[in-house]
Amino acid sequence: HGDPRLKAISEAIRVVPHFPKPGIMFQDITTLLLDHKAFKSTVDIFVDRYRHMNISAVAGVEARGFMFGPPIALAIGAKFVPLRKPGKLPGGVISEEYVLEYGTDCLEMHVEAVQPGERVLVIDDLVATGGTLSAAISLLERVGAEVVECACVIGLPEVKVI
Ligand code: PRP
Repeated sequence: HGDPRLKAISEAIRVVPHFPKPGIMFQDITTLLLDHKAFKSTVDIFVDRYRHMNISAVAGVEARGFMFGPPIALAIGAKFVPLRKPGKLPGGVISEEYVLEYGTDCLEMHVEAVQPGERVLVIDDLVATGGTLSAAISLLERVGAEVVECACVIGLPEVKVI
């Protein structure tokens, strides 16, 4: 709000109507990644907010949380923990199912990635229903971590139309 960088960031995100199916206004952040200045501003805004909050881990949600989480983690001096779709992580995992409009999906995390009491920031590109972030929070709380905040580049109201 009032930050002049937000307009440039918003304009760098391409909106593609009816992708991947009719009625969806797809928010394409690949065009933001192509715009160095807007991409850096995006990361900087999160870094400014979280750098002094004693956060030891940034957890990113597959796939697009992997694009914003690592640069934020590096800049605030935290490790990066990938939350992945099922069957991708080779170590010991915990799983959390979540409900989609049609059916369910699942996120997994390596159990040893985060220790009890660690302060964690969850990053994704976009929140719609919040189901994905809820599953991410559950995974982290099950290992005893404290989820300080969840942060996304794109928020709810303008995400879906019709
Ligand atoms: C999208 C988006 C978020 C999630 C948000 O991911 O990147 O992770 O949906 O939706 P929600 O708030 O309703 O849960 P998608 O499921 O398309 O997976 P992908 O990033 O691997 O393509």
